[in-house]
Amino acid sequence: MKKALIIGATGTIGSAVMKAFTDAGFETEGVSRKTNPALDIDQTESVDRFWANGSTFDVIVCAAGNASYGTLDELGEDSYRQSFNSKLLGQVRVVRRGLKKLNPDGVIILTGGMQAYNPWPGTSAVAMVNAGLEGFVKAITREINDGRQVCIFHPPLVAETARLMGMNSSVFPAVTDVAQVYLRRALHASGYLVMFLEGFGPKNS
Ligand SMILES: NC(=O)c1ccc[n+]([C@@H]2O[C@H](COP(=O)([O-])OP(=O)(O)OC[C@H]3O[C@@H](n4cnc5c(N)ncnc54)[C@H](OP(=O)(O)O)[C@@H]3O)[C@@H](O)[C@H]2O)c1
Repeated sequence: MKKALIIGATGTIGSAVMKAFTDAGFETEGVSRKTNPALDIDQTESVDRFWANGSTFDVIVCAAGNASYGTLDELGEDSYRQSFNSKLLGQVRVVRRGLKKLNPDGVIILTGGMQAYNPWPGTSAVAMVNAGLEGFVKAITREINDGRQVCIFHPPLVAETARLMGMNSSVFPAVTDVAQVYLRRALHASGYLVMFLEGFGPKNS
């Protein structure tokens, strides 16, 4: 049975990804800052500690990492730094350690977001880390030549989150549709390096 690690497994996206992979017959392990063992991608020591155990995986999904919303005037330098440390550097940490525990032909799927391509006011920190992550993924792909892969998915805002933000959720996809993109990528490991949900790809600027 193939084994999948889902980081951020209790979240909106992560819990849907857990369910999709479990339903598809994967053995799944879900982690977050509050699980036992815990994994906090913001902390190098926590990531090192987690990967010190012997488990290996065929798929690692990271659906964790925080980035701040706010306009340029509202966000202080600390907000940019925290966004960088959590969502960007946090996922870099996952790749640096996770690759060593990734089985042959395995795949690591990182999570960015559509603001990398289609930002709206108040998303500069989020767009910055999402675009930076994509650059990281494209570059390291040139270094990994043994069949294992690292890719990035830029999900659109999902309806469940839009609802929480008080937005009209009807124009956004359900999180279950987004979870299927992670699953399809894991099942078809020769797929795209940068992924979008069909119908929610980049618009011309
Ligand atoms: N929801 C959307 O519409 C959407 C769209 C595009 C992209 N994204 C991106 O997708 C990711 C997940 O979003 P979400 O809406 O599912 O978030 P969420 O509902 O807030 O859930 C976040 C999950 O990650 C865990 N987590 C948070 N910080 C962590 C850390 N430092 N280390 C390890 N785990 C951590 C949380 O659990 P603990 O609190 O227990 O650690 C939780 O399981 C985020 O990076 C977000 O920017 C979301």
